[in-house]
Amino acid sequence: MLGFALQAQQLVGPGKAVDPYKRTSQKSGVFNQGAVASAHPLASQVGVEIMKRGGNAFDAAIATQLALAVVYPIAGNIGGGGFLLGRTAKGELLGLDFREKAPMAASRDMYLDKQGNAQNELSQNGHLASGVPGTVAGLFATLPYAKLPFNELIQPAIDLAEFGFTLSQNEATGLNWTKQSFQKYSTQVSAFVKNTEWQEGDTLVQKELASTLKRIRDKGAKGFYRGKTAQLLVAEMSRRNGIISKKDLREYEAKNRTPIRFNYKGNEVIGFPPPSSGGIIVAQVLNMLADRKLETLGFQSEKSVQILIEAERIAFADRAEHLGDPDYWQVPVEKLLNTGYLTTRMTDFTAGKAGKSSDTKAGNFSESSETTHLSIYDKEGNMVAVTTTLNGAYGSKTVVGGAGFLLNNEMDDFSIKAGVPNMYGAVGSKANAIAPNKRMLSSMSPTLVLKDNKPYIIVGTPGGTTIPTSVIQTLVNLIDFKLSPVEANSSPKFHHQWLPDVVAVEKDFPQALQDRLIAMGYTLRLLDSIGRTELIVIDAKGTIQAVADIRGEDAVAGF
Ligand code: GLY
Repeated sequence: MLGFALQAQQLVGPGKAVDPYKRTSQKSGVFNQGAVASAHPLASQVGVEIMKRGGNAFDAAIATQLALAVVYPIAGNIGGGGFLLGRTAKGELLGLDFREKAPMAASRDMYLDKQGNAQNELSQNGHLASGVPGTVAGLFATLPYAKLPFNELIQPAIDLAEFGFTLSQNEATGLNWTKQSFQKYSTQVSAFVKNTEWQEGDTLVQKELASTLKRIRDKGAKGFYRGKTAQLLVAEMSRRNGIISKKDLREYEAKNRTPIRFNYKGNEVIGFPPPSSGGIIVAQVLNMLADRKLETLGFQSEKSVQILIEAERIAFADRAEHLGDPDYWQVPVEKLLNTGYLTTRMTDFTAGKAGKSSDTKAGNFSESSETTHLSIYDKEGNMVAVTTTLNGAYGSKTVVGGAGFLLNNEMDDFSIKAGVPNMYGAVGSKANAIAPNKRMLSSMSPTLVLKDNKPYIIVGTPGGTTIPTSVIQTLVNLIDFKLSPVEANSSPKFHHQWLPDVVAVEKDFPQALQDRLIAMGYTLRLLDSIGRTELIVIDAKGTIQAVADIRGEDAVAGF
C-alpha cells in the first residue's frame, strides 16, 4: 500500500515506465532515437524516458545522474563531484568541471602526523576526507543545455528514493560489507544500515535523501549549498573532525574548461583537461601510438601490448610530476602534448624487454572502481559523457545526518605527501599538493570521438588510475583493431601507471600473453576487473549501438 497517490504523468512507480521493483537489465542494444549506458538499469531507464518526453541528452544526463545518486549509492552522488564533457548537435563543446575542492580550512600537511608520516586513514575515511561537493552545481550548470524544467528531471530520483527500489544480491552484499564502516564514520543512523542483513530483493527506501532532493527541486542549487541542507552538512562536520564550512558551500562553483582536442588516425578525440589527468593521459598515449601500426602487430599480441604498457608508464610518470589543478599550478599542457616530445619519450624502451620505472618506491593498486560513468546520445546529435564520483566505495562512508546522502573521500586524490601513494597507488608531487579551495587531481576521462566531424564514440569508465587506460584500450580496440563495440568493451584490459612498476591485468587476460610479459621482465598483478566502461558508438548512418560493461550490473536503455 503506497502512502501517496501515483500521478498520471509520473515516470517512476509500480507499473510505470520505470518500475523500481522490477529489475530488467539489457547489456547492449541498437537504437535510432537515443540511448543511455550507465551503472544501473533504473538510472538508464530514467534517462531514456526523459528523452522520450522531449528531453535531449543533457536532460537525460541530469536525470540519470540524480537517479544514480539514489539507486547506486556506492558511487552515484550528490555529495561528490565529476566532469561532464558534451557536444551539442550544433558542434559546441562543453567541458564542465564540478570536481570537489579542498575546504578553505585545508592545508598542505593536514594529513601528516607530528613526525611527518602520512595518515591515509584520515584522507580516506570519515569527515576530514571530504572535499566540498560539486555535483549539484554541475547539474545546474548543465541545465542551460537541457530542454525540460528541472523539476521534471529530478522527480524520478525523488520517487525512487521514496518508493525505494529492489536491491540486487551485489548491492545487498555491498551494504552489508560496509555496515561497520557506515556505523563508524557516520554520527546518525542512516537508511543504509538496518539491524538484520540486507538480502537480495529487499527494498531500499531513502526518505531523508528524498527530502534533500525536494529542497533542491524547490530551491535550485541553493537547496543544497544553502539553507537546511547546508546546515545539516556543516552540523555533521562539527560532530567530528570535519572542516567543510557554510562559506565553502556557498562559494562553490562549477567551472567551464576548454576540452583537449587531437587527431588520432583520422578521428578527432575530445578529452577532459586538468584538473583531470584523464584527457592528457589519453592524448599522450594515443599520440605515442599514432605512428605505430598496431593493427599489423595484432590485437593483444605481445608487441602491441608492450607498446601500450610502455606508453602508459611514460604518461603516468608525467602525471605524477606535472599535473594538478590548473588554477593553482601551471600545467605544461602544450609541452606534454608536443609530438616531438612524445616521440623522444617513446624511443626509451627496448622491444621484447620490460622497461623500468626509475623510482622504485612502490605503492599498491587498489581494486576499487567506485566512480561511475554515463554515456548518452540523442537523435538530434547531442553527445554527453559524464564521469562522477565519491572516490572510494560509498566515499568517506559518512552519511550527512538528516540529509541522507554520502560524502566523498576525494581529499585522498591530492598528493597528501610527495611520493606517498594514494588509495590507487598513484604518487604525486607539488603540482597536486593540498591548498585551500584547490581541486584535487583526477583520472576521470569522459571522452568523445568524432569521425568526419560527426558523432562517433562516447566513452568513459570508473576505475581510479585505470580510467584513462581503459578508455585508451577501448578506443584502440575500436579504431586500430576494428573490434565490435561489445568486444572492444569486454575484452580483458591491462594497466601500467609508472609506480608501482607493475602491469595489472584482468584475470581472464590470456595466460600465454601473461607468460610472455613475465619472460620480458614485467611483474604482473591479477585484478578481478578493470573498469566498468559505458560505450556508445554511432555509425555513419546514425545508428546507435550502446554497450554496458559486462563486468558489473551496468545496463543500457534506448529507443
Ligand atoms: N576519484 C577518482 C578520480 O577522480 O580519479
